Amino acid sequence: MKKLSGPKKINTAIFISGNGSNLRNLIKFSFLKKSPIQVKYVISDNKIAKGLRYPKKYNIDFKCYNFLNKSLTEKKILVDLKKRKIRLICLAGFMRLLSRNFIDNFKYKILNIHPSLLPKYKGLNTHKRAIKHKEKFSGCTVHFVNAKLDSGKIILQKKVKISKNENYKTLEKKILKQEHVLYPKAIMKVLNL
Ligand code: GRF
Repeated sequence: MKKLSGPKKINTAIFISGNGSNLRNLIKFSFLKKSPIQVKYVISDNKIAKGLRYPKKYNIDFKCYNFLNKSLTEKKILVDLKKRKIRLICLAGFMRLLSRNFIDNFKYKILNIHPSLLPKYKGLNTHKRAIKHKEKFSGCTVHFVNAKLDSGKIILQKKVKISKNENYKTLEKKILKQEHVLYPKAIMKVLNL
């Protein structure tokens, strides 16, 4: 019997460096009928990233790059993405800045998720800094990627209250939970769904 299939999903690549909870979440999201994406490819700059367990588990093609030569590595990645007809890149805890050349050469959308209410607290240690500055709120942001750190156009944000006795670990946990809601929503938004 012929297998019935829904509308074609957008081939998506996810770039990671670490735990991969957002990767796992996006893979799960991609399995939903309403999801417009199919996770076709995972790239890591760290061959011992914990998140690599997910492409293995779900049988998704993946590759690790050491980025020793950044421009050569980016060129290779662009070839890989073209081969797999990737039309969307989601950075999910990917700890490197992509070059302007890479961004200009990838003709489709590149998104990133960041654990703060950008433009506040770009870069690392966002939760520690938010607590140190006695912020009442922090949160997470999904934005388009440009060649500057955590600086592209904002797509969606979610505010999270910082409680009295919050420490950076509890805040990280709270925000990560919201990231897992926000990233799929932002993908739907940029794809006009
Ligand atoms: C998340 O907080 C994300 O916003 C930031 O790095 C962390 C990655 O977490 N860019 P995970 O690897 O997805 O669990």
